[in-house]
Amino acid sequence: MAELATERLLLRPVVREDIPRIAALAGDARVAETTRSLPHPLTIAQVTGWFESLPARREHAFAITIKEEAALIGVVALTVAPDGGKAEIGYWLGHDHWGKGYMSEAVRRVVRHAFGDMKLTSIGADVFVGNDRSVGVLVKAGFDVEGRATRPAPARGGDREALVFHATRASFARAALSQAVGRE
Ligand SMILES: CC(C)(COP(=O)(O)OP(=O)(O)OC[C@H]1O[C@@H](n2cnc3c(N)ncnc32)[C@H](O)[C@@H]1OP(=O)(O)O)[C@@H](O)C(=O)NCCC(=O)NCCS
Repeated sequence: MAELATERLLLRPVVREDIPRIAALAGDARVAETTRSLPHPLTIAQVTGWFESLPARREHAFAITIKEEAALIGVVALTVAPDGGKAEIGYWLGHDHWGKGYMSEAVRRVVRHAFGDMKLTSIGADVFVGNDRSVGVLVKAGFDVEGRATRPAPARGGDREALVFHATRASFARAALSQAVGRE
């Protein structure tokens, strides 16, 4: 797995030493409640199980760090389908770091890596209805909404209504271009 840099962030592979910090940050109910898969409460053993199962599930998990600071502040992960062409993206950020544009920056970089170096053809994402921050992250990375679906959310104790998003190399390139033009 690569290390990816953005203007403010360094994204690097999650390592075993990150487990306690992941358990502490993702163990916050405000972080867990809008995800399908983060249990609450969250134990070190559960995070260890997740970490150890990453290769078998073809999940590429990046630790989000602020440049010049070592500590992980969140995770963004791509789970690649067995055929190698498609992936699902998931992410969370420690609550203290919300609202600063960090996840938009991280997701755009990981999606660029996915369509470029990893040669993926499409990326999907499900967002619970009402999680507008996450919708903002995806739209800025060129994801389009495909519809609404009932999705299993095992860690939330049942199904949830979700918006289903999808990005292709073309939709990502379009979003990147319109942002570049907007900055001129
Ligand atoms: C979703 C999450 C990762 C967003 O991270 P973030 O770094 O705060 O996101 P950003 O700062 O890049 O903001 C994203 C966009 O959300 C929107 N936004 C920001 N604050 C908002 C608010 N209070 N209400 C609604 N939308 C908001 C904006 O469109 C913003 O874009 P902008 O920078 O152009 O204003 C973070 O809230 C989180 O970890 N939530 C819990 C886990 C989760 O829901 N993961 C995603 C599961 S699909």
